[in-house]
Parts: sequence; C-alpha cells; structure tokens
Amino acid sequence: MTNSPVASSNVGVLMSVERLCAVGDVAPGEARRFDVAGHRVAVVRIGDDWYAIGDRCSHQDVSLAEGEVHEDTLELECFKHGSCFSLATGEPSSLPATKSVPTYVLTVEGDDVMLEVS
Ligand code: FES
Repeated sequence: MTNSPVASSNVGVLMSVERLCAVGDVAPGEARRFDVAGHRVAVVRIGDDWYAIGDRCSHQDVSLAEGEVHEDTLELECFKHGSCFSLATGEPSSLPATKSVPTYVLTVEGDDVMLEVS
C-alpha cells in the first residue's frame, strides 16, 4: 500500500496519495464506495475514464455509490430522491440537492487506482 506524502500546489496543505484498489476491482459503468483517510469517496469508472466525488449525498446522508451511473451525462444519481451529481464538478443538476459534493483527483498507475487526499 502506498502512503507517500507529496507536495501540493495548495500552499500549506499536505496532500497524500492513497491506493484505493486495482483497476479490475471496479467494472466499467459501476460506482463503488471507498473510505480512505477520513474521506468517504464514490469512485466511478466509465470505460477507461475514472472519477471520484464525495460519496455522501449533500441532501441527506446516503451513499451516492449505491445510485445509478449515467454514462451519457457523466453523472451519478442519488438512489433516494434522484438528484444527479456531475462526476466532473460534484455539482447537482437536479433537486432536491442544492449543494455540491467534493471532487477528488484520481489517477491510474499501472494496475493501481490512486486517490489524492488532504
Ligand atoms: S438523499 Fe440524495 S437526493 Fe435526497
């Protein structure tokens, strides 16, 4: 497991890079929840593209990773009331959620899926 602090572009903020899983652990079109370094993250794979947003819906405390992935609009739909969240920005595009969820930098290094967290 990699846990190496790296320099951040944000002055004064120490970032670390955590290994989440292997590439084959998340199927294309699937969302999966990870709890890492105090962050609850929904990881979505669409083809060979990967996205990571906060897993906690901004409307109520439910897991966004349990919702449906919309590959055409690059959104993740909350299963409880149907708000859709952009995988790129974390912003909701439909009610009842009105607040964004965080976004994370995710990279694939060989067979390892890595997440940058502060
Ligand atoms: S709990 Fe997610 S939209 Fe209501």
